[in-house]
Amino acid sequence: MARRSVLLVGSEAQPFAKTGGLADVLGALPPALQRLGWDATVVLPRYRGVTAGTVVDTFPVTSGGFTRDTRFYEAPLADGARAVLVDCPELYDRAGIYGADSTDYPDSPRRFAFLSRAALEFAARRETPPSIVHAHDWQAGLVPVYLRTLYAAHPVLRGTPSIFTIHNLAYQGVYESDWLPRVDLGWDQFAPDRLEFYGRFSMLKGGIVDGRFVTTVSRRYAEEIQTPAFGFGFDGILRARRADLVGILNGIDDVEWDPARDPFLPTRFSAADLSGKRDAKAAVLQRYGLAADEAALARPLVGMVSRMVDQKGFDLIAAALDDLTRLDIAFVVLGTGEPRYQDMWRAAAARHPDRVAVRIGFDESLAHQIEGGADMFLMPSRFEPCGLNQMYSMRYGTVPIVAGVGGLADTVADGVSGFVLAAHTPAALREALDRALAAFSDPAAWRALQLAGMRQDFSWDRSAREYVKIYERALAGVRR
Ligand code: ADP
Ligand code: GLC
Repeated sequence: MARRSVLLVGSEAQPFAKTGGLADVLGALPPALQRLGWDATVVLPRYRGVTAGTVVDTFPVTSGGFTRDTRFYEAPLADGARAVLVDCPELYDRAGIYGADSTDYPDSPRRFAFLSRAALEFAARRETPPSIVHAHDWQAGLVPVYLRTLYAAHPVLRGTPSIFTIHNLAYQGVYESDWLPRVDLGWDQFAPDRLEFYGRFSMLKGGIVDGRFVTTVSRRYAEEIQTPAFGFGFDGILRARRADLVGILNGIDDVEWDPARDPFLPTRFSAADLSGKRDAKAAVLQRYGLAADEAALARPLVGMVSRMVDQKGFDLIAAALDDLTRLDIAFVVLGTGEPRYQDMWRAAAARHPDRVAVRIGFDESLAHQIEGGADMFLMPSRFEPCGLNQMYSMRYGTVPIVAGVGGLADTVADGVSGFVLAAHTPAALREALDRALAAFSDPAAWRALQLAGMRQDFSWDRSAREYVKIYERALAGVRR
């Protein structure tokens, strides 16, 4: 049998562009698939500042009557996988990936419809076209739709099955219907069983209705999104697709996130010898300008690295913060997002400069140092499709305190590898933190928690195998 290949499409991938976990996934899944014998190519925009890659093709791409000569840069990923960066400066050479000042660019439908068309056109021109197309989140939601409409009779891509993965149902790509012709969709798509969504249309819905399988990034989240509480208006549609809806937990890049070889840590450490963690704690305290004396090193240090949005449970923290700052603990926080949450943390740091330190911004090295140096990691999300930071934390012997939702519930065992909030309330947050502090004061109990987390296997290979099973099921149903 010919070697199988998969074309992945999405809006961010490490090491080229990142705002959140999608980038980690699209940077690590292609190499993991490649290791399993698949040819894996991920297509994303060539945003401002990306210099990697060499031009492998140039041709005009048309999306909704908008035509631009487009250069395609190819850059290698690990293990023989590839990234292809779509270069259309008018659409992608901008200050932000999605927008400026927390507002998305108004031509977002065009930016990502163009990406989807460009990815498919690029694939159609390869010597070996993809066996499977795997689209991620609303930005690539039109890929499955195009395969079923524009490309239904295409000489090369006809019949190519697509898989659609939901990384976050809260981002739905909903736009006014007058965009439809400008993204190559006919009015027949403006129907309740197609892309229409409460009087507008949703690019996410396109992926959900037309993906041969729909996957999401944890089992628990796959169940949750079929309920009104977590479905964001899509629960009915997802229940209708339940037979083809699969939860596959993300892995983590265990080379990039490994305390035994992390270049951002002052001293490497591992489950066999945790002594270097104390150096990491001193380093992160110093980097934040906090005291790093004996008393500070003995005091529990709680870390957070997060997009500052409602999803991540900042409302709970806002309600509990005064109470929490009365405890003998310190906080190191890194994140960027909604101004009100940035202000909340800045104000807390101003009130408690000796024990609350905040860095607003995106900083990869600091993220690693927090994971390495904190004792506990706080992630009280309202919903969490998978969540990667709790897994990074466990790998670094940093005990996660998490909400019992989605991938957090699937990865953290309460009282064993971390602490799970019993409810989404400030009281439950306090209760979980109290239990963590009690354990922290008992060195043997704490060590057991750390080691339980460090010994878990979150490698990508397991997850990639699950994706391959889905690809194979999709291929088994194909008649060309
Ligand atoms: P989400 O994708 O919802 O933001 P995840 O936990 O899946 O949540 O992934 C978040 C990823 O983004 C992690 O790799 C985390 O370390 C990283 N990250 C988030 N905010 C920052 C930041 N301000 N600086 C550096 N890394 C960040
Ligand atoms: C989304 C989710 C997060 C998940 C990530 C990667 O951003 O919010 O929970 O880990 O995608 O799948």
